[in-house]
Amino acid sequence: MTSDDGSTRELAETYADGGFLDAKWDVMRRHRTSAQSFEDWLLDQLPIRPGLRVLDVGAGSGRFALPLARRLGETGRVVALDLLPEVMAPIRRSGLPVATVVGDANEPPADLGRFDIVLAAHMLYHLDDVVAGARALAGLLRPGGLFVATTNVGVGMREMFELHLAAMRELGLPAEDTAEPERFGGDTGPALLRQVFPEVRRREYDGGFVAPSADPVFAYYAATELYRRPMRDDRIPMPTRLRLAPTYVHLAQETINDGGPLHVHKDMVAFFCRGTDSGE
Ligand SMILES: C[S@@+](CC[C@H](N)C(=O)[O-])C[C@H]1O[C@@H](n2cnc3c(N)ncnc32)[C@H](O)[C@@H]1O
Repeated sequence: MTSDDGSTRELAETYADGGFLDAKWDVMRRHRTSAQSFEDWLLDQLPIRPGLRVLDVGAGSGRFALPLARRLGETGRVVALDLLPEVMAPIRRSGLPVATVVGDANEPPADLGRFDIVLAAHMLYHLDDVVAGARALAGLLRPGGLFVATTNVGVGMREMFELHLAAMRELGLPAEDTAEPERFGGDTGPALLRQVFPEVRRREYDGGFVAPSADPVFAYYAATELYRRPMRDDRIPMPTRLRLAPTYVHLAQETINDGGPLHVHKDMVAFFCRGTDSGE
């Protein structure tokens, strides 16, 4: 995705003020199947040291920029870059030493400087040309710097999606069971990144969660476009739209009553990439 008006508006609807991102990551942290949160898992693998300069591209609400700033304290510098100013509101509110910059990853502002680590967490799939975007970001690395990208493996969260389809069907609303081909995913990522970086290491993380009741499943679902798109669709009568939430919760609870806690599978992956010594 680039910064042309239509796609930016769509992006702004999806990410709004960062609250939806925070709501999803909160469910994943609280009910996760892995011992460590995704954030800690990733940050533990970074060569954190005093004086480190990190750029978090497509930083959103600060899922990584904020804990990074806590880990680095006053000794380093964290810069958060995002196309949308509003989504970075939680970063600005945090009071932590993170500089927020509004800009496009495809054409990063010229005066950003160079970084020891450039992190692109769950954002490269938004770029129309992933390789060109990764190349532009690689240009922001200091010689020997590390580029880290995260994304999902496959479509994921099938269980949450099945409940969405069932709820839409129950309300007589159209819902397509089609997954878009992934632009930058766990399987397509390595070949794309190898066009930019000589060394690409791939590590997988089990990002699933187990819901003991319908509440966390709905909390996650309500923060997705799956739920929010029909909710703002004027063609659907308001009383029908208002039934989507209770219908979804009812179906989720019924599933849990019948089969026990619901395991929502979501595999994620991180790519650790090294450039050449020139930082390209
Ligand atoms: C799925 S969110 C990920 C946010 C954060 N990295 C995280 O992991 O929670 C994707 C973010 O990328 C941003 N984004 C999308 N396209 C962008 C672009 N071309 N340049 C900069 N940011 C972009 C969106 O505004 C959004 O905040």
